Amino acid sequence: MPEFTFLSGAGDWWRQAVIYQVYPRSFADANGDGIGDLEGVISRVDYLAELGIDAVWLSPFYPSALADGGYDVDDYRDVDPKIGTLAQFDRMTEALHERGIRVIVDVVPNHSSNRHVWFQEALAAPAGSAARERYIFREGRGENGELAPNDWPSHFGPTSWTRAPDGQWYLHLFAPEQPDFNWDNPEVRDDFLETFRFWSDRGVDGFRIDVAHALIKDMTEPFQEISGFEQANIPLDGSHPLFDRDEVHEIYASWRGVFDEYDPPRVAVAEAWVPSERRPRYASPDGLGQAFNFDLLLADWDQAQFRDIIAENLLLAAQSGSSSTWVLSNHDVIRHATRYGLPSGLSVDEVNAWLLADGGNIVENHELGLRRARAAVMLMLALPGATYLYQGEELGLFEVADLDAAALQDPQWMRSGFLRKGRDGCRVPLPWTRAGSSFGFGTDGAHLPQPGWFGGCSVEAEQDDEGSTLSLYRRVLALRKELQGAEELDWVPMSDEARPDAVLAFRRPGGWVSATNFGLAPVDLPAGRILASSSPLVGGMLTGNTTVWLATD
Ligand code: GLC
Ligand code: CA
Repeated sequence: MPEFTFLSGAGDWWRQAVIYQVYPRSFADANGDGIGDLEGVISRVDYLAELGIDAVWLSPFYPSALADGGYDVDDYRDVDPKIGTLAQFDRMTEALHERGIRVIVDVVPNHSSNRHVWFQEALAAPAGSAARERYIFREGRGENGELAPNDWPSHFGPTSWTRAPDGQWYLHLFAPEQPDFNWDNPEVRDDFLETFRFWSDRGVDGFRIDVAHALIKDMTEPFQEISGFEQANIPLDGSHPLFDRDEVHEIYASWRGVFDEYDPPRVAVAEAWVPSERRPRYASPDGLGQAFNFDLLLADWDQAQFRDIIAENLLLAAQSGSSSTWVLSNHDVIRHATRYGLPSGLSVDEVNAWLLADGGNIVENHELGLRRARAAVMLMLALPGATYLYQGEELGLFEVADLDAAALQDPQWMRSGFLRKGRDGCRVPLPWTRAGSSFGFGTDGAHLPQPGWFGGCSVEAEQDDEGSTLSLYRRVLALRKELQGAEELDWVPMSDEARPDAVLAFRRPGGWVSATNFGLAPVDLPAGRILASSSPLVGGMLTGNTTVWLATD
């Protein structure tokens, strides 16, 4: 691999980076088979460079039957032939590096796919064999072992156990096609170290670690009862049998050893759905180094919630020695331009019910949702720390909430007994052109149907329009590059007695202020020279649902 100068001597590039998540199957399709591919990414590197991001995180592109959108990995050290080849991966990495964009790949250590050679070996081998010890096989209950070993639910459905043909059961916290690894097995540990070296040697700059809180399980019998999988149910003392056990950090310390063999050290970010107090452990410099903070993604459009989340996470980041991360959307949640058009305070079940019932009638909420989404991203980009953007949010894309049941691919749909529509609505292939086959995504259709309104949100429709969301992202990402300084923030009190909770404002080192009006009524602007605003300012006032950045020196 050629060495690029920016790659050395900048070991802390990740601390305040803007990372753009590419969901490869839905980004750009170069060979016209309806599935996005690596050649497609290569064809769009200039678009990514112009957007002004620092790194790309690619969701899994490994060989996979797509039982869970690629998070069911057949082989961790190859590219799915439907998506490309290793040679194309290298070319993609080179093309991104040449433009100063780093590459982060997704590693899925909790489970493989059921087509992984190890799982195939395990199925072919007898109970108690070394091959079965790489996964979690147990005998069933009942007279003939016909009942699952316990009642643990899975993320996608009622049970986390599936019976193998010979009668033993195996554990899967997600779909049956995703058997969980046994991380007490040194072979499993060694194999992932090899995977990290494999991609690091190819020039990959970092890793996103899938379900990082679940690798270690307490399988001692009698099994512990589990009430649910929600983050809120995870105790703070590491005693949950499946999640956030303290021993998991020994694994991450060993990975750190490999990451630090490289210059600059490879980085990692944990996807760990744990209570916020436990997050610093994952973000520790002796471990993965950074952890996703999903608090804003879970919050309502509400000044007090945003303020508390920001304050808490800056403290947690300082505690861990890492920087904070911020996320509004990813491939697992309803796009935030849609979320912000829904009434506040809906539970997950209520949102699901809404998606099933009248998800098709959301257009009237689009204007409000997008206005808030634009304000939210400017607020987020003004914060100290690293920011994760999800492909398509820069176009102001909404959830495709009215996908036909027949088109749905997410295992959540079927495995929830058709109660949870799942995550396909945020994974619909990107629109690049106003019209044409699959709106420029490819030349022959898209693997999930795109709605007619996609053309109006396409890159072509937005790129020369000053008022578009794409132009806003480009403008504020460029500004952020100039403005971002030390990882500090001071709250600026806004004295509007009538609406004390409407505005959230803070000052950043280097003399600039970000102010967001969460309310509807315009408020006075803080003093300063206007640098950018998410919606037009009227009569020198900060309009409702708007963020403004101001220079104060
Ligand atoms: C993570 C991924 C999600 C996937 C799950 C199982 O949460 O983000 O898409 O379904 O892990 O791998
Ligand atoms: Ca393709």
